[in-house]
Amino acid sequence: MKKPVNHIKIAMDGPAGSGKSTVAQKVAEKLGLLYLDSGAMYRAVTVLAIENGVETNIPELIKLVKNCHIEFSENGKSIFLNSEDISTQIRTPEVNTLVADIAKIQQIRIEIVRHQRRIGEEGSIIAEGRDLTTIVFPDADYKFYLDASVKERAKRRYEELQSQNVNTTLEFVEEAIRTRDEKDTTREHSPLRTSQDAIRVDTTGKTIDEVVDYIISKVSTENYQHRTEKKD
Ligand code: C5P
Repeated sequence: MKKPVNHIKIAMDGPAGSGKSTVAQKVAEKLGLLYLDSGAMYRAVTVLAIENGVETNIPELIKLVKNCHIEFSENGKSIFLNSEDISTQIRTPEVNTLVADIAKIQQIRIEIVRHQRRIGEEGSIIAEGRDLTTIVFPDADYKFYLDASVKERAKRRYEELQSQNVNTTLEFVEEAIRTRDEKDTTREHSPLRTSQDAIRVDTTGKTIDEVVDYIISKVSTENYQHRTEKKD
C-alpha cells in the first residue's frame, strides 16, 4: 500500500570536517528540502555569550538564550541572532575554540533542541550536527553518520581557511579538531555517537558529489512532500 504524502526527515551526524554541511546543503538543494545547520545554532549562542561577556556566567547565559531569537534565511545558509546577520561571526577562531564548551551545557541544549524540533515541523528537512540522529530526530526517515580520518578533516578545514585568507597552520587546525572531537564525544549530555540505525559513510578520499549521490541513492522521496510543493 502506498504511504500517504508526508514530510521527509533526514538526519545526519558526524565530527568537524566530515563534510556534513556541504553535503547536506547540496542534498537539500537537489531534493527541495529545508536545510538545518544545528551547529550554527550553538555557534550563535556562543556569539551571544561573547557579545554579552557571559561566557562563564552560565545562569545569565541561559536567561539570554531563553529570550533570544535565532532564525535562518530561507536556504538555511545565513543565521540571524535577534535579527542581526551573524553568519560571519559564528565562524571566527574565537567561536571555534569556545563553542564545544557552550554546547555541553544541558539547559542550553534543551532550548536549542526544542527550537530545532519546531523547525523540523515546518516541512521536509535535512538536518545535520552531532545529536540529530540520536536525540533531536530519533524518528528520522533516514539517518547518516559521516566520518573521515582526522588528517583528511584537518586538511579540508585548513584549505577552507586558506581560501578565506585566514593565517593558520595545518598542525594548529588538526590539533583544534582533535580537541573539539574529544569534547564532543566525551561530554555528559548528547555526546556525538553513531546511532545504531544510521548508515555510516566514510568520506575519506571521496568528492562531495560522490557522497551527495550516494546519499540520494539511499533516499526515496516518492511519497514525500517537498518544500516547494503546496500543502493540500
Ligand atoms: O557543526 P559545527 O562544527 O559547526 O558545530 C560546532 C559545535 O557545536 C560542535 O563542535 C559541537 O560542540 C556543537 N554542536 C553540538 N550539537 C550539534 C551540533 C553542533 O553540540 N547538534
